[in-house]
Amino acid sequence: MARRKKIYEGKAKTLYEGPEPGTIVQYFKDDATAFNAEKKDVIEGKGVLNNRLSEYFMTGLGEIGVPTHFIKRLNMREQLVKSCEIIPLEVIVRNYAAGSISKRLGIEEGTRLPRPIVEYCYKDDSLGDPLVTEEHIAAFGWASQQDMEDILSLALRVNDYMSGIMYAVGIRLVDFKIEIGRVYEGDFQRLVIADEISPDSCRLWDIETGRKLDKDVFRRDLGSLTDAYSEVARRLGILQSSNITTAPTVVK
Ligand code: TMP
Repeated sequence: MARRKKIYEGKAKTLYEGPEPGTIVQYFKDDATAFNAEKKDVIEGKGVLNNRLSEYFMTGLGEIGVPTHFIKRLNMREQLVKSCEIIPLEVIVRNYAAGSISKRLGIEEGTRLPRPIVEYCYKDDSLGDPLVTEEHIAAFGWASQQDMEDILSLALRVNDYMSGIMYAVGIRLVDFKIEIGRVYEGDFQRLVIADEISPDSCRLWDIETGRKLDKDVFRRDLGSLTDAYSEVARRLGILQSSNITTAPTVVK
């Protein structure tokens, strides 16, 4: 069998050419990085969990009419997605203060924000993904005015969906990051949610105890990352076992 073509290797995922034109296979690695890859480790089972969790969220978004790049999960670590051109922005939505906004503006972590705040960072690792304004985005042509309206609406719909689904299982969606892709259909382009939605790219806190169930466990050395991600998957009914690295039993 011919070896498939690698298109791109990122910090947590590798992309391969898909079986049909316009498709890509997204492989979830066990690698964890933080602080622009200054901190690195391999966390056995993380890729399997994120593949399942991202499938779950992307499928749910599709069901409520939010377009995503997701086509189907192929196996434990891979999913088939639509090939798209990634807009070079990290779109962050915050409901509570944490992380960089707390540092930047001196707001105590956990403070409820007056309303969801949307931020944009320019996707460039060599610059450390700096925060940018819509003025930069328009001036440098990273996205059009129409794109920005669509991106804002998509980001807020993802926030509503993710907040609701998490609240239902006793988890607070503090903030999250998404990436947006352009899919070309004939002469038209459509914006879709791309990349992944997983505890790598969200802050998730247990509502009762405040326990962190996201990548801050790794960033801040708070214990087992797979235990935290497994807990999210277990609450959502994705896994029966609370420990994926031993004997995960997939429910659906
Ligand atoms: P921040 O508080 O560090 O700016 O992060 C905001 C949210 O974005 C948080 O849920 C983590 C997520 N995030 C990523 O997914 N990738 C990144 O590179 C960074 C810095 C944050």
